[in-house]
Amino acid sequence: MNVIPALIGFSEKNGQWFAEGVSLAQLAKDFGTPLYVYSKEAICSAYRAYDAACIRPNGTRRARIHYAMKANSNLAVLDELKQLGAGFDLVSGGELARALHIGADPKSLVFAGVGKSSLEIEDALRTGVKCINVESIPELHRINTIAKKLGLRAPISLRVNPDVDANTHPYISTGLKDNKFGIAYHEVLKTYREAALLSHIDVVGIDCHIGSQITNASPYLDALDKVLDLITQLQREGILIHHLDLGGGLGIDYGSDAPPNITEFTNLLLNRVEERGYGNLEVLLEPGRSLVGNAGVLLTEVEYLKTGSDKNFCIVNAAMNDLMRPALYEAYHAIVPTQTSNVSPRLYDVVGPVCESGDWLGKDRMLAISEGDVLAILSAGAYGFVMASNYNTRGRAAEVMIDGNQAFLVRERETVSSLYEKERTLNK
Ligand code: LLP
Repeated sequence: MNVIPALIGFSEKNGQWFAEGVSLAQLAKDFGTPLYVYSKEAICSAYRAYDAACIRPNGTRRARIHYAMKANSNLAVLDELKQLGAGFDLVSGGELARALHIGADPKSLVFAGVGKSSLEIEDALRTGVKCINVESIPELHRINTIAKKLGLRAPISLRVNPDVDANTHPYISTGLKDNKFGIAYHEVLKTYREAALLSHIDVVGIDCHIGSQITNASPYLDALDKVLDLITQLQREGILIHHLDLGGGLGIDYGSDAPPNITEFTNLLLNRVEERGYGNLEVLLEPGRSLVGNAGVLLTEVEYLKTGSDKNFCIVNAAMNDLMRPALYEAYHAIVPTQTSNVSPRLYDVVGPVCESGDWLGKDRMLAISEGDVLAILSAGAYGFVMASNYNTRGRAAEVMIDGNQAFLVRERETVSSLYEKERTLNK
């Protein structure tokens, strides 16, 4: 089972799990639990796997990575990726602020999202982002009006909904015609014609994203072909497209998944673009999960082992508020003890302390554990911390990034008093 890149893995010699050179059990002692741990090198090597396919043998660049920061927007993660040359894909004014905070070049930012507010559009235009990905006809008109008011021109792409089935979880499938995302395939040409006539709009690109945790390249190729057909038609009509944004969505191995290799997958897409005669288009890719997912784990401590005639529960101190994916999507995350033990293994449901039956992190897991042991929930680097909440007045976990043998606290644990400091009672 190849769940984890070697950078986060088990050392037979020590009988322990490590992130790079640091023992996970030791991190739990030093920083407490629940704790998110990220390997800097695991993130960087995933980025380099993409980038390897983005450079032609003659050294010229044929694509750029715009990291989808919604997957993990910790400033340390953003900063490492920026230093490697990544741009960013943003979906809110908050994400725009984070990108600017780490000094990202505005021209490396693409702004997507189905419900951008006027304020967010205004901020993006004033910042001078590379492109706004437009998801509806009313949004196109709103952007034109705001650009006019600001005396600016808005660079835009239309997000095409190509109506292909990405065969993923329905909550994270976005490219089907009954999804809320993008402009329906049959309306795209008409909308480009309309956009080209608007006074403060510059058509610069075309965009498409069909879903997330996709483990098969064929829906991508189908979507790509459909988008290239649109570009052909647009060029014929004199509407010039400078860049093609293929979105993100490549899946990772959570335990029994077999996604394509990052470099091979990227080569497949980029080669298809070139084979169809569009080698001069600038191509943008927006991976999120595949850059950070397997670079992170969530550490949690066993509070109680509750055995019963039908079920055994391993009650841990992390919960659905820390890692929402199992509760929300019934997502599978492998769970391992960070140190081997001699106790006999038992079958457990691993659950959190939150007052909901949906608060589980893993079902039917065979674990050799005792109270006080530290477990690692694997593949938690993407859509983990970013989706955490304060439900049950639980502070969000701390985050640590490992670089070689060093651990850096990249986000402090939230204190309980900070959770209600903005609240007021009616009676003083
Ligand atoms: N570009 C766009 C326009 C997107 O909507 C997304 C993800 C991405 C790129 C990045 O996709 P990725 O490479 O990470 O698959 N919370 C869910 C995933 C939601 C994905 C939303 N959009 C989960 O935990 O599985």
